[in-house]
Amino acid sequence: MYVSHLSLTDFRSYHQVDLTFGPGITAFVGPNGQGKTNLVEAIGYVSTFASHRVPSDAPLVRAGASAAVVRSRIVRAQDDGSERSLVLDIQLGSGKQNRVKLNGSPSRSRDVIGALRSVLFAPEDLSLVKGDPDGRRRFVDALCVQITPRLAGVFAEYDRVVRQRTALLKSAAGMRGARLDLSTLDIWDAKLAELAARVIVARHAVVAALAPYVAAAYREVSDDQGTAELTYKSSVEPLAAPGDPVAVEADVLRALEHVRRKELDRGLCLVGPHRDDLVLTLGGLPAKGYASHGESWSFALALRLASYQLLSHGPQQGTIDGETDLWVADSGPDGEPVLMLDDVFAELDAKRRTRLATMVADARQVFVTAAVPGDVPPQLAGDRFDVLASEVTRGG
Ligand SMILES: Nc1ncnc2c1ncn2[C@@H]1O[C@H](COP(=O)(O)OP(=O)(O)O)[C@@H](O)[C@H]1O
Ligand SMILES: [Mg+2]
Repeated sequence: MYVSHLSLTDFRSYHQVDLTFGPGITAFVGPNGQGKTNLVEAIGYVSTFASHRVPSDAPLVRAGASAAVVRSRIVRAQDDGSERSLVLDIQLGSGKQNRVKLNGSPSRSRDVIGALRSVLFAPEDLSLVKGDPDGRRRFVDALCVQITPRLAGVFAEYDRVVRQRTALLKSAAGMRGARLDLSTLDIWDAKLAELAARVIVARHAVVAALAPYVAAAYREVSDDQGTAELTYKSSVEPLAAPGDPVAVEADVLRALEHVRRKELDRGLCLVGPHRDDLVLTLGGLPAKGYASHGESWSFALALRLASYQLLSHGPQQGTIDGETDLWVADSGPDGEPVLMLDDVFAELDAKRRTRLATMVADARQVFVTAAVPGDVPPQLAGDRFDVLASEVTRGG
């Protein structure tokens, strides 16, 4: 699929901009702080209904304006070779709910999330390797949602249950010996276990499907001998059958029973997917703490390239036990995502640069941002826009 039009009103630094793209390579070139990342951020927003840079929408609205509008046209190849396009209008404002239109008709976010698939690689992704588990959880969850958009609702509901259950545990911890009605907690445990199981099963399936692509992509981008491995580590242990929601639900309930005393003492929700992590290892050693700067970069890049390949081609080894459902393409044909490489070539050494450029040169659509034209590798020659003080002009 590809984005053929993007029009922004009061989004970030843009008052109004209308851009037309073809498939293939498009580069945004200009010095720092001119509005390049704002453009790929907008395309990412169409895809995920969230920014890759900030957790809330408020900073996305131009200073002084009350709402932003991102309008895009998305073109998808159909199975019979024809193309079909749809127009998505998203109005986002500080604190208010998004207002969404699909081909001019009011629509719900949850019905259009996933209409555009995208993978964005940016320097901040180094924190996937070096940073806290929370960033890695967001990475897996975002990938789950791109594959199966309706999981967005499950993740949101799980977060809500964790917040409410935590509030209850906190109030219990504050009661100091006064009696808490434990039956209320039992009800929350049951809710949490059911949703936790769905989250764990989905993440597990996605990590298993992604892992072979990560190993292959890592080998391709770097010369390093070590094998890059990816495993899901749950706070719920042991998981007898991580692909089976019924079994996982029972495991979560058992784990909750086991930590109940501690949870009541500390007023915290101690087990569940909100405490899980993705373990990245290189040649058997944890990447975090052991990998060099260059290796960490290659690993972060491999995670994104692997996501792109998984979305384009599906799992390498057939369907996944117990979770075939996850791969039902409820997003229609032509799942190849739009690829965005934000400011990454300047950070890579010459060899990794060439390898990355060669790997992505044939993708359906790639957006590249760079400070100077020389930072865009020759393999990625294509359309160019110059970006200066949030004015975007077609370059030569
Ligand atoms: N909500 C906003 N309103 C107005 N300007 C903004 C807003 N958010 C970011 N900016 C401006 O956008 C610019 C950064 O744009 P960005 O796309 O990140 O630059 P780069 O070209 O380096 O990628 C900064 O000048 C910043 O002040
Ligand atoms: Mg930038």
